[in-house]
Amino acid sequence: MIHISIYEKRASLEKGVTMQVRLGIISNAGGSGKSTLAVHLAYAIAQYKYKVALMDLDPQGSLTLFCGLSPPEPIDTLSAVLKEDFTGNWPLISCWKDNTDYVSACQGGMTLTQTADQLVLHKRGAYLLEDCLSDYPLSQELVIFDCPATLGPLVLIALTACTHLLIPVQVEPKSIQGAARLLEWYYFHCRYLRLNPYPEILGFVPNQYNKNRAAHRQILTALPQQLESMKISTFPAIRESAEFVNASGMGLPLHLYRPAHRANKDFTPIVSSLLKLIKEN
Ligand SMILES: Nc1ncnc2c1ncn2[C@@H]1O[C@H](COP(=O)(O)OP(=O)(O)OP(=O)(O)O)[C@@H](O)[C@H]1O
Ligand SMILES: [Mg+2]
Repeated sequence: MIHISIYEKRASLEKGVTMQVRLGIISNAGGSGKSTLAVHLAYAIAQYKYKVALMDLDPQGSLTLFCGLSPPEPIDTLSAVLKEDFTGNWPLISCWKDNTDYVSACQGGMTLTQTADQLVLHKRGAYLLEDCLSDYPLSQELVIFDCPATLGPLVLIALTACTHLLIPVQVEPKSIQGAARLLEWYYFHCRYLRLNPYPEILGFVPNQYNKNRAAHRQILTALPQQLESMKISTFPAIRESAEFVNASGMGLPLHLYRPAHRANKDFTPIVSSLLKLIKEN
């Protein structure tokens, strides 16, 4: 596999060069399911024998908990990657050890708050992660960026580095307004940062859906209609289940915690889309 910069994407497609899929998971709402989606998609894609790198861009460092990892030293986090003296030794650590080494994580944590401040002052601030991935390519077929909810410098470095985006939204009234604001942010920054091409929005993912709630059913009808007018897809919803919280507390994806749980299948349409992209690339 040859790894190339997002800026070379169009040229490379014309030449038929293969590419790594880099998926940014963003949303402007806390608790919408970004980390949950990141972890479950990574696990599911790895079942197809593709390697996945999970990158935690969040100072909360949720992936440490969700992947059953120990809290990292600052030198073993994404902060170290974004330093001037980084020489390509990606601090990737294998997730769910007794399962496979197909998923590895570059952990986040509080040091990312300092990193965010430094990014603002850095001449190539918004492009630093993209620069690292170009200069020191990773061999994984899929790289997933788990972003913080605040649309600041740490989300911008994911925006410039990713090829595709997924946007989880909780099924609640404010999500529709929030979705419109997020799209404004996306178009503004893609234009401002001169991304060419813009990372493709694979779709919105309604999360924590409870079909017994009338409000949820109503929103699940309204959201796709609104997005469709902007030619943006909506994936089928991920159902609400307390088992997601239990699984993450154990540091496992639901697939490993409750292999027969019906919610495991809710990820299938997104997994299929990603597999298609990986194979195309
Ligand atoms: N479908 C679901 N049903 C029930 N609980 C869920 C579901 N999806 C996620 N959760 C739980 O909701 C909480 C928030 O999810 P998660 O941490 O993935 O959101 P996030 O968008 O990453 O949040 P943050 O903005 O804080 O990073 C977690 O406790 C998670 O286990
Ligand atoms: Mg999170």
